[in-house]
Amino acid sequence: MELIKKPLKIRNMELANRLVMAPMATSKANNGEVTQKLLDYYDEKTKGGYLGLIITEHQYIRLDGRADPGQISIAEDKDIEGLKRLVKIIHDNGSKVLAQISHAGSAAKMHENGFVPISASAIVHPRLIAKNGMTPQAMSEEEIDEMISLFVKAANRAKAAGFDGVQLHSAHGYLLNQFYSPLTNKRSDQYGGSVDQRVLIHVKMIKAIREAVGDDHVIAMRLGACDYIENGSTINDGVVAAKAFVEAGLDLIDISGGFNGYDKAQAEPGYFSDASFAIKQVVDIPVMLAGGITKKMDIDRLLKEDKADLISVGRAILKDSDWAKKIMTIDR
Ligand SMILES: Cc1cc2nc3c(=O)[nH]c(=O)nc-3n(C[C@H](O)[C@H](O)[C@H](O)COP(=O)(O)O)c2cc1C
Repeated sequence: MELIKKPLKIRNMELANRLVMAPMATSKANNGEVTQKLLDYYDEKTKGGYLGLIITEHQYIRLDGRADPGQISIAEDKDIEGLKRLVKIIHDNGSKVLAQISHAGSAAKMHENGFVPISASAIVHPRLIAKNGMTPQAMSEEEIDEMISLFVKAANRAKAAGFDGVQLHSAHGYLLNQFYSPLTNKRSDQYGGSVDQRVLIHVKMIKAIREAVGDDHVIAMRLGACDYIENGSTINDGVVAAKAFVEAGLDLIDISGGFNGYDKAQAEPGYFSDASFAIKQVVDIPVMLAGGITKKMDIDRLLKEDKADLISVGRAILKDSDWAKKIMTIDR
């Protein structure tokens, strides 16, 4: 059997194949609410059930952590009803679905949300320096505890809405990535310093979510393993972090970029496979990889070379809703 067509079971979530739709913000929500436009979009992308797994676009867990005004909210119990409709469409089309949950930290904007942004340290988001970005407030330990409980509440809502699990967003420079990266985490308490300390918030979050949602719900992490920037996080940090996540109870790790973002110009398809391969050597949970993958031959190669267990694809699906069908039904 072709590797891409091999089923995979993660806890009780049975994936029909190894092809995943990557999380992609659509800006189609209205004040955080799921809209018909959003439902139609996910229906179109998942029709036919060719994708084993869908990871939704990021959903904010509290309004001050909203990255974009058109983002989906999972911050309040009233959001559950709309999310249920979203889950139902994807399940009815034959795919499993994880809710990506996130806080934008210092990437959130005061003029959009009305709150002074927060972060691990009072350091302007590296991507906003050139845009006169605001200095965020460094979070106190009490605020970190509160943040963990907000992610737990969001995970509970995801469960109530019928999602197969959650994915914590710790990539592309958002709050959890701001704790992970030495570029933005200069704390001198237990949440800063060595990589083990920089991922203490993640570890506590995984444990707290597991306790809340039980054994039947998948907990995944999207990790911007390496910043690919001087003095930033390294692949070795990713290896140490991944081991700590597994020990805490993580089920699935999805490798992308850190403060460099999700793209890599003029790079080979699967351009974060240096990190995913290194991490795959030390963990016994499935590893997912995204970045620049558009062709069947590249998917086959990355799986065969053990660069990942699951292949996640964004822009090819964004551009062509029949892309997954073509990949899964045409031999090329
Ligand atoms: C329009 C757009 C929106 C995105 N939104 C998210 C997001 O909400 N969460 C996330 O983790 N990644 C997001 N990404 C990154 C994708 O998940 C993916 O990692 C990236 O596009 C690289 O994969 P690709 O080359 O197959 O597109 C987004 C990418 C695009 C193009």
